[in-house]
Amino acid sequence: MLPYGRQSVDESDIRAVAEVLRGDWLTTGPAVTRFESELARWTGGVPCLAVTSGTAALHVAYAAAGVGAGDEVITSPLTFVATAATAALRGARVRFADVQPDTGNLDPDAASALVTGRTRAITAVDYAGHPADYDELREVASAAGAVLIGDAAHSIGSAYKDRPVGSLADLTTFSFFPTKTVTTAEGGAVVAAAPGLLAAASRFRNHGLVRDPAEQRDPGEGGWHQEVHAFGLNYRLPDVLCALGTSQLGRLAAFRARRAELFDRYDRLLAGLPGLTLPARRPYVSPSWHLYPVRIGGGRRRETYERMRAAGIGVQVNYLPAYWHPVFADLGYRRGLCPAAEAYYAEELSLPLFPALTDADQDRVVEALADILS
Ligand SMILES: Cc1ncc(COP(=O)(O)O)c(C=O)c1O
Repeated sequence: MLPYGRQSVDESDIRAVAEVLRGDWLTTGPAVTRFESELARWTGGVPCLAVTSGTAALHVAYAAAGVGAGDEVITSPLTFVATAATAALRGARVRFADVQPDTGNLDPDAASALVTGRTRAITAVDYAGHPADYDELREVASAAGAVLIGDAAHSIGSAYKDRPVGSLADLTTFSFFPTKTVTTAEGGAVVAAAPGLLAAASRFRNHGLVRDPAEQRDPGEGGWHQEVHAFGLNYRLPDVLCALGTSQLGRLAAFRARRAELFDRYDRLLAGLPGLTLPARRPYVSPSWHLYPVRIGGGRRRETYERMRAAGIGVQVNYLPAYWHPVFADLGYRRGLCPAAEAYYAEELSLPLFPALTDADQDRVVEALADILS
């Protein structure tokens, strides 16, 4: 089965990991710092913290933003459930705002309409790698006195109005899951410019431990002393995986370029197919494409999904509206809440897109799809 996404791991990646395995550090050592500083080259210099997954990154971001019981977090339903689940786990009430019908990204007006005195954070999702409308979302967040978070699990290396993802929100999160543009097997990162947010994120990633005597309540306890002021977790990404990440970042420009080439090629080859809507793209973004999301009209998405899979082509659907998950339904969220997201979901199909996809593989995908739709 041709997958919809997969990692590209080469000998240079394997060598980088093996070198760390032969060294003194397995967990938190020099490879972590190195990975974080290499990653910051992609965020316009905004500091990065490596964590164990994109989900952990979101959990850390909400903790750093001070999200807790009684707060509300506004986000998109067209995302992996983790974007909302991690806010709910902090005790917040998630408010789902609808998406723009063409990009599938959080609609700033819809987000604005949900702002209340309890809004603590607004979380955009850069669906498929296409950055959300951050200037408008920034205005909404500022007016609300809320923290702006960017779930950039799909968009490492993307830019919006010539500004890199990572520099657009107060806190940005990445995922390095194998289908993503850069992988560390499991992994993620949190990005923040404000020293207070960065320090809070760093502390939550490491059990909440306070090591600096100047900040401790009982610094006289002894040289071994460390103390916890607010609960945290162990979300540290180990040296071994950071070494893979650094090596992968060295290949990111090539990954981006090949994904862009395949994306444009799909655009050309699929143009004019009946019942098919190709992905939208704003003129002011430069995406690192994670997905190639087409929309299949005429109520034929499920049939197309099944026939493509039967033809050995591993298409995917991204995403079930987050509040359709029973855990949200049980909390009283009802279908119909975000009509544009539901309409998008009803038609969406992600075609295979990854750097090692050959032109011949892609031709096969296009032929299979054309066969079904024409
Ligand atoms: C939009 C989005 N947010 C969050 C996540 C969670 O990332 P991870 O799988 O690394 O925990 C993913 C990945 O599945 C995602 O696609």
